[in-house]
Amino acid sequence: MNIFQTVERQSNVLPEKYRNMAVDELEDRVKAIKNKLGSKLFIPCHHYQKDEVVQFADATGDSLKLAQLSEENREAEHIVFCGVHFMAETAEILTAKNQNVYLPDMRAGCSMADMADMFQTERAWTKLVELFGETILPLTYVNSTAAIKSFVGQHGGATVTSSNAAKMLKWAFNQKQRILFLPDQHLGRNTAFHLGVGLDEMAVWNPITDELEFDGAAEKVKVILWKGHCSVHENFTAQNVADIRMNYPTMKIIVHPECKREVVELSDMAGSTNYIIEAIRNAEIGSSWAIGTEMNLVKRMIKQHPDKHIMSLNPHMCPCLTMNRIDLPHLAWCLESIEQGSNMNKINVAENDAKYAKLALERMLAHV
Ligand code: 13P
Ligand code: SF4
Repeated sequence: MNIFQTVERQSNVLPEKYRNMAVDELEDRVKAIKNKLGSKLFIPCHHYQKDEVVQFADATGDSLKLAQLSEENREAEHIVFCGVHFMAETAEILTAKNQNVYLPDMRAGCSMADMADMFQTERAWTKLVELFGETILPLTYVNSTAAIKSFVGQHGGATVTSSNAAKMLKWAFNQKQRILFLPDQHLGRNTAFHLGVGLDEMAVWNPITDELEFDGAAEKVKVILWKGHCSVHENFTAQNVADIRMNYPTMKIIVHPECKREVVELSDMAGSTNYIIEAIRNAEIGSSWAIGTEMNLVKRMIKQHPDKHIMSLNPHMCPCLTMNRIDLPHLAWCLESIEQGSNMNKINVAENDAKYAKLALERMLAHV
């Protein structure tokens, strides 16, 4: 995100009256607009959202499911996306021209998506093509800007989510010898390792120094990992795993693949948000679990499964702060603005970016 986009996103500030409104009143206002707009309104919600928002969701899901639902829904005129900016952008790209997508707080970005911008990506590509010729295919985690998705689409690549990263990496290796994986080094490394690519066949592209970090001979490189990460999942450590093993020897540890390689390695299971939810749902009554993912979701699973012993892998974990920017006051404000005909908080994607970003997303959606 550049400085102008940051300023633009920050200019839509929640009016004072919503800040001071009682919870009951905010909830009544949301219910009233939902009743009035009926199927003209669709509220998709990511699993990392707060309960005060999730209670009004028409659908909940991980990023893959929400992308699929956005593509399928042709009925809603207004899609109020409760998640972060890249998810709302994805919905905007996949929906029809007469559908509008809104994000209740435009400041709900994603620190990982902000770790790869177009200038860095163009520079990286030039250098990597100099080094490896036409042997590279770019893949990007959906946690990236529309511009990055567009770049990837234009170069024959596709998007991935944590649910289908392995499938998409296999697809990519059928096209080219090497993969550039943006912007999450951990998802890229964990997925490639799971598919049998050695750690000594993976290099890291550092977008700050514009250098390839790799010890061996360049021709050995199969996967080039962009040096980005999730500031939430990076907070799970090998020490957290060791503490659980010591204090709760029979507890199972399950983590998201945005966690570092060593954490995934030491855990019992690793998989996408949806995989974690299903694993806990299907777990034996009385079983105990330490979960390495976002805290709003972990807290919800603790509530939903009182028959299982569940805790966060890191006892000092916080929720994703940008996901948390979407709260009940912002939801009520956004819905009332829509009702009053305002286009505030509407997501716009430049046509040029949308065209190829859509291609990258469609290549992914065709493989799930
Ligand atoms: P998934 O929903 O694909 O598991 O992604 C997790 C995440 O970090 C979303 O921001
Ligand atoms: Fe971004 Fe991580 Fe928050 Fe997901 S959990 S929105 S990847 S910072």
